[in-house]
Amino acid sequence: MAKKLYIKTYGCQMNVYDSARMADVLAPLGYAPAAAAEEADMVILNTCHIREKAAEKVFSELGRLRPLKARKAKAGGRLILAVAGCVAQAEGAEILARAPYVDIVLGPQTYHRLGEMVAQATRAGGQVLDTAFPAEAKFDFLPEAAAPQGVSAFLSVQEGCDKFCTFCVVPYTRGAELSRPAAAVLAEARRLVAQGTREITLLGQNVNAYRGAAGDGAWGLGRLIRALAGIAGLKRIRYTTSHPLDVDDELVAAHRDVPQLMPFLHLPVQSGSARVLKAMNRRHDADDYRRVIDRLRAARPDIAFSSDFIVGFPGESDDDFARTLALARAVGYAQAFSFKYSARPGTPAALMPDQVPERVKAARLAELQALLAEQQRAFNAAAIGRTLEVLFEKRGRHPGQLVGRSPYLQAVHAPAPDRLIGALAGVRLTAALANSLAGALAGQAAETPA
Ligand code: 5AD
Ligand code: SF4
Repeated sequence: MAKKLYIKTYGCQMNVYDSARMADVLAPLGYAPAAAAEEADMVILNTCHIREKAAEKVFSELGRLRPLKARKAKAGGRLILAVAGCVAQAEGAEILARAPYVDIVLGPQTYHRLGEMVAQATRAGGQVLDTAFPAEAKFDFLPEAAAPQGVSAFLSVQEGCDKFCTFCVVPYTRGAELSRPAAAVLAEARRLVAQGTREITLLGQNVNAYRGAAGDGAWGLGRLIRALAGIAGLKRIRYTTSHPLDVDDELVAAHRDVPQLMPFLHLPVQSGSARVLKAMNRRHDADDYRRVIDRLRAARPDIAFSSDFIVGFPGESDDDFARTLALARAVGYAQAFSFKYSARPGTPAALMPDQVPERVKAARLAELQALLAEQQRAFNAAAIGRTLEVLFEKRGRHPGQLVGRSPYLQAVHAPAPDRLIGALAGVRLTAALANSLAGALAGQAAETPA
């Protein structure tokens, strides 16, 4: 009888990709996807360590899973409980101590060995901990056969980070920058497209630092995107997350020349204050960032931006924060994420003096979020009356309706036949709702699915 696997994913898109690949690794062992933890024989929590709240969620979820495991054991069965991802990497031993009912703890760099770990936990019992940074790259050991990922899929091309922003755990949990060879990326992209994927989002913690080995030296991200654009049937390309320093001319030129590359870019700035950016070790100031935005806008005038902001970094003054607001106003974002600074153990900023009081952080976050929400509302409202190309991904909530995304990643729903799933179609936008836009097909659909 098939065993069932339930994976709960926290955090970034990289974790979403990793979860899909862990499912691929376990498929040959007979694990099929379960809809809920209650019906699973194995549960994996793929965790995020980026902010304190994210890590705490894992321990409360483990608390909820514990009785499930006990019930299953009483009935003569067994629920294997695994914790993967960045909390596992950072706090592996603590998880095993605090939650002794956890069977497997594995870091982001070892999930190609998950099959062995399951065998070990089942046969020998006891707890398995594997949070090494192995010499072998996991990508070389992952199965080629993969479950179809749908119309829009993630593809990891780069992992790890050498930037060491002083607030960030990623360089410690994900390790040093590593890029997959260009040929491996292209092969995976072709496989995805053959399975029906029409949009690929290239992933990396520092995706535009991509330097992938290729026959003729190392390729940057711009070169990789041009090659991907040659895959017939691949209609859209995106990439995330980028660092402003690594936006090179080749990448800017790709935005100018490659129509499949979507005019929407998540480009985190974190702060608008040169002083705070320096303390963050971002290695750019607000003017450098503005110049990158200008270069991209010159290359692709319809490009829109998203960003990440941190408020209340240690030492951030009212004046520093005012500069963040000013930068956000000057750029004008289509959407953005903003967070209160959260001291992460082991990072330099956690030890800095002048930690900002909670109520100041809360007030600044509210002010910034109000501004960003207003920008997002204005951006969406400006789409009303326009016709945007939408890639339909699946059926909508109402009968006869499909949902997809605009070039700017806005969710769009419109009455449309099922045969348009996987197709690009012009949609005339008629209304902006809370989290999506509504519209109607504009004349003939641009194309039928391949
Ligand atoms: N506190 C608050 N926000 C953080 N981020 C990363 N580390 C921290 C932290 N310690 C935010 C940054 C990053 C996003 C993924 O999470 O804005 O770009
Ligand atoms: Fe973290 Fe900075 Fe690296 Fe981004 S660039 S992953 S914020 S250290």
